[in-house]
Amino acid sequence: MSVVRFGVSLEKNLLDELDDFVKDNFLTNRSQGIRHLINNYLVEKKWQCNNVVSGSITLVYNGHKNDLLIKLTAIQNEYHEIILSSQHFHISEEECLEIIAVRGKSRELTKLADKLRALKGISHGKLAMTIAG
Ligand code: NI
Repeated sequence: MSVVRFGVSLEKNLLDELDDFVKDNFLTNRSQGIRHLINNYLVEKKWQCNNVVSGSITLVYNGHKNDLLIKLTAIQNEYHEIILSSQHFHISEEECLEIIAVRGKSRELTKLADKLRALKGISHGKLAMTIAG
């Protein structure tokens, strides 16, 4: 993709904020910072429009707790149309990490993540959505 250069006028305080953003996110320059911010904005806009997006759901849970695994599987079966794959890691004798790759309408992904996260025994649940559909 070709790159276009353009001049930007900004208030000093906004420029300072941009420089902080670049530094905090380990970006190399202001162009990268602006690119990052525009991308984030576009991703959020896509979610709001309920477009098809790809993403992942990360879950951490105690694998030996009551019927959590049965419930986790039942919900994933229910949403089989938007689940691409899932990977299970045993991170300790007690804890499991599961990463579920998803693709579908942003509202459906959010609903699935909310349902999984609400299960008793899930200690961490996070949905990450991208712009790619
Ligand atoms: Ni496990």
